[in-house]
Amino acid sequence: MLIISNPKTYSPIGVFDSGYGGLTILKELVQTLPQYDYLYLGDNARAPYGSRSFDTVYEYTLQSVKALFDQGCELVILACNTASAKALRTIQQKDLPSIASHKRVLGVIRPTTEIVGNYTKTKEIGIFATSGTVTSQSYVIEIEKFFQEIQVFQEACPMWVPLIENNELVGVGANYFVEKHVQQLFSQSKNIDTVILGCTHYPLLKPLIEKYLPEGVTVLTQGHIVAEGLRDYLVRHPEMEARISKTNSLNFLTTDSTELFNSHASLFFGQEVKSKHLSL
Ligand code: DGL
Repeated sequence: MLIISNPKTYSPIGVFDSGYGGLTILKELVQTLPQYDYLYLGDNARAPYGSRSFDTVYEYTLQSVKALFDQGCELVILACNTASAKALRTIQQKDLPSIASHKRVLGVIRPTTEIVGNYTKTKEIGIFATSGTVTSQSYVIEIEKFFQEIQVFQEACPMWVPLIENNELVGVGANYFVEKHVQQLFSQSKNIDTVILGCTHYPLLKPLIEKYLPEGVTVLTQGHIVAEGLRDYLVRHPEMEARISKTNSLNFLTTDSTELFNSHASLFFGQEVKSKHLSL
């Protein structure tokens, strides 16, 4: 088994996504909290997760979390809405107590839904996400916990991740699928004034999404929200903060080809990366 560093002294924050999307979250984490070590895992060999069944997403996510634990991670962020929607609760409630009761796994949906009330005036918000996230109703359920007065409209965009993963960000195809889903969301209500890009891949399509959105609509991406949420979590959990190693290192693992990962990752992360291969 590949071991990045001595797990006795190396205890990075694990950041997991089905593929490249979580790099948009990692980028903000590193900017906001640069003192920590980070270990990214992209399950590129099995991405996308967005249209897979609950059981499959759960099984793949659990394997990935265990692999990050094996590398020394005490805390893992599921930087993937689909995994957060379909696997997080079961991992937290069923698996963690038996496999590693002192370790923690956090998602990206909770921190996003906690703050959405600060942005909407009309109290109508839209969610763009994968089919899996939309079907799970996680955004609707979580927003209801914090802001009962907010009405949530969802739109599943199954073609957006494949477009992004294939770097088709500006062509005819991308324009067609972005316009189509923006129109479908707004056909549900014209009063939506805030949209959440509820998939960590979607920030790459933000310029195109904004092109088709009605004027004045606020677009929320998750990177800075998750980073601020993590900062707050670590202040509230000093025992966990103390366990994370702090040598500013960044490591990347992919379950697919490292050459492919290295050539695509900079698009999402904003700088060159060098990955290692991990088999799950
Ligand atoms: N990046 C993932 C998310 O935030 C989904 C990508 C996929 O379909 O695998 O939902």
